[in-house]
Amino acid sequence: MAKKGIIILGSSRSNGNTHKIASFIQENTRYDLVDLKSLNIGHYDYDYNNQSDDFMPLMKNIVDNYDIIVFATPVYWYTMSGIMKIFFDRISDCLRIEKEIGRKLRGMDMAMISCSSNSQEYDGFNLPFIRSANYLGMNYLGDIHTFIEDDIIPEILESDIIAFIDKNLNSNK
Ligand SMILES: Cc1cc2nc3c(=O)[nH]c(=O)nc-3n(C[C@H](O)[C@H](O)[C@H](O)COP(=O)(O)O)c2cc1C
Repeated sequence: MAKKGIIILGSSRSNGNTHKIASFIQENTRYDLVDLKSLNIGHYDYDYNNQSDDFMPLMKNIVDNYDIIVFATPVYWYTMSGIMKIFFDRISDCLRIEKEIGRKLRGMDMAMISCSSNSQEYDGFNLPFIRSANYLGMNYLGDIHTFIEDDIIPEILESDIIAFIDKNLNSNK
């Protein structure tokens, strides 16, 4: 049976460039998509004062219903977006207070899509994802850097994204 995937969109605009890429990936994988900007997810808090926000229900949904998480982040200041980083910080809740959810991440798959406005890739951009996957016991399937030019996905990039999907996502049955 095909594995079930969810794309986690971490852009500061819901219908921007990263969303265009995420939608294209969605069309070619049939994965579900969740837009972090549409949710109320607070910063990591040492006293866990934000436990009633949208983070834990989202995490519970992910670990109970999916096999693959695809993080889709714009490149903001050479790294992942702030919204995406907040999501990663909050995963610490799953290691400290909701340990059962943390344990369920083990064995899941992770991939990452970055999006900027040109083909330039930054060394080490994928390191936090690779290391986090490793720390959480997740399998890192790979990543691809993407970009939007004149409001569209360049044709050559479309074929690269499809090749990435076939090799790393759809082949993962
Ligand atoms: C706050 C901010 C920081 C950015 N930093 C970079 C950067 O460091 N390198 C880069 O190539 N592009 C950078 N960009 C351009 C974005 O990566 C690019 O426009 C991207 O496609 C935006 O995706 P979005 O519409 O989902 O936000 C930045 C854009 C913003 C808004």
